[in-house]
Parts: sequence; structure tokens; C-alpha cells
Amino acid sequence: MTTAFIAGATGYTGRHVTDRLAREGVRAVAHVRPDSAALGAWTARFTAAGASVDATPWTDEMARTMARLRPDFVFALLGTTRARAARDERATGKAAGYEAVDYGLTALLLHAVRAAAIRPRVVYLSSIGAREQSANPYLAVRGRFERELQESGLPYLIVQPSFISGSDRDERRVVERMGSIALDALLGVAALTGARALHDRWATLTGDALAAGMVRLALDAPDGCAIVDAADVRRAARAV
Ligand SMILES: NC(=O)c1ccc[n+]([C@@H]2O[C@H](COP(=O)([O-])OP(=O)(O)OC[C@H]3O[C@@H](n4cnc5c(N)ncnc54)[C@H](OP(=O)(O)O)[C@@H]3O)[C@@H](O)[C@H]2O)c1
Repeated sequence: MTTAFIAGATGYTGRHVTDRLAREGVRAVAHVRPDSAALGAWTARFTAAGASVDATPWTDEMARTMARLRPDFVFALLGTTRARAARDERATGKAAGYEAVDYGLTALLLHAVRAAAIRPRVVYLSSIGAREQSANPYLAVRGRFERELQESGLPYLIVQPSFISGSDRDERRVVERMGSIALDALLGVAALTGARALHDRWATLTGDALAAGMVRLALDAPDGCAIVDAADVRRAARAV
């Protein structure tokens, strides 16, 4: 049976990806950090969706988990925001910004895969505009990880969406949501005037559409190496 390990399963995208994989008959293993206050609730939720839960700490132990589970696909869907990083850093006294979470934990996962000597396809949720030389730290860490993944010799799928949002996102991100609504309104007009490609590349993806397209693109080419944008994801989701 095909196995997928989902890091960041508790996030907006991660939940949709986990549900989608389980529905497609994949053995979906949702990672929840062991210190999560909601570990019990997540276990109940994912189990009900047909997935299982792994709570390996973000340490060298991750390599042993990779060796034990031997996933065919590893989804890396982790990330923080400035506001959230500041909150986490105040609460724990540990670095929790883009460098520590978006880059650090994702790199630890890649290291664990390589240490376990397995060859899953690594599916990395990056961002449009990711570039190692960017002055924007969010885009720079994504660019750096994209390069390291491409140099790893593993099959990969790098997904570069614009906004990811929807009315089913439970975390309040007012500025992001307003930004995505305003951008979508402009892109809606652009699409009407013929700029459909611009719309499909830049308009917001809902968690459900992103998961549908990303899972399809991942499963269809287990040994492939590809970088895709929101337009590719939309096309794949429409074909599901
Ligand atoms: N939102 C957008 O518009 C957008 C656009 C393009 C790309 N992206 C990128 O896509 C990815 C997923 O986005 P999303 O909106 O689905 O993310 P999300 O809902 O914010 O979920 C983030 C995930 O990262 C985990 N995480 C955050 N801080 C952590 C920490 N200190 N230690 C361990 N785990 C931590 C969370 O775990 P807990 O639940 O345990 O906290 C959660 O599973 C991110 O990399 C994001 O930057 C987002």
C-alpha cells in the first residue's frame, strides 16, 4: 500500500491533504508535534478521516520514524507567520521564525529522509516568488530549501501558490484574507478581459482545491521532479 507522511498535517493545507490522501486509499500518516496541546483531538480527527497519527519529536528521532514507516511520499507543509512566531517565541523562549520553522524543520525532515536511505517523492509547499537571494526572509528560506531539495537527488514536487485561503480557515488572518479577496477581485476582472493565465497563476487557492491538485500531481508521477504553480494545481484539481 502506498504510504504518505504529512508534516504540517495540523495546518490549513495539511488537513485537506491528509483527508484527500486517506480518501484516495493512501496510508496517510499525519504528523502532530508531541507537545501539541491538541494531540488527543487531532488523533481523534485524523483517525475518523481514515489516517493515522505520528507524534515523533522534531529531533534526530525523525530519521528512525522515516526508516520505520518508509513512506513513498513525504509532504512538507510547515510554516509560521510573523505574528505566530513572536507568540511562540514569547511562550517557549526558543526561535520559532521562518529560519527555525519554515526552513529548519523542513530541512530536518529532508535530512531524516536521507539518513533513513529511502527514496520518497518529497512534496514541498513553497510559494510564488520563492528565491534564495530575495530580501524577503519568507521567500529567501523557501528559495534555499527548494535548491537543497533539487540537489538532494530525490524525486520532488515543488508547489508555488499565491494565497492559500478560504472561509474554512479557522485561524483569523485578517490582513491576509483581505489581501487575497482584493487580489481575487482584480484578477476576476483580468480574467474577464482575457487575462485568464494571470488569474489562474495568482488567484487564491482554497485548501480543498490545493490539496486535490497537489495530491493528484504528486501521485501521478512518483519518480518525477517538477515545479508547479497555482495554474497547474487548478488544472489537476479540475481533472479529479
Ligand atoms: N497561507 C498562504 O497564503 C500561503 C501561501 C503560499 C505558501 N504558503 C506556505 O504553505 C505552507 C502551509 O500553509 P498553511 O497556511 O496551510 O499553514 P498553517 O495553517 O499556518 O499551518 C502551519 C503548520 O506548521 C506547523 N508549525 C508552525 N509553527 C510550528 C513550530 N514552531 N513547530 C512545529 N510546527 C509548527 C503547524 O503545527 P501546529 O498546528 O502544531 O502549530 C501547522 O501544522 C506554509 O509553509 C506557508 O508558508 C502559505
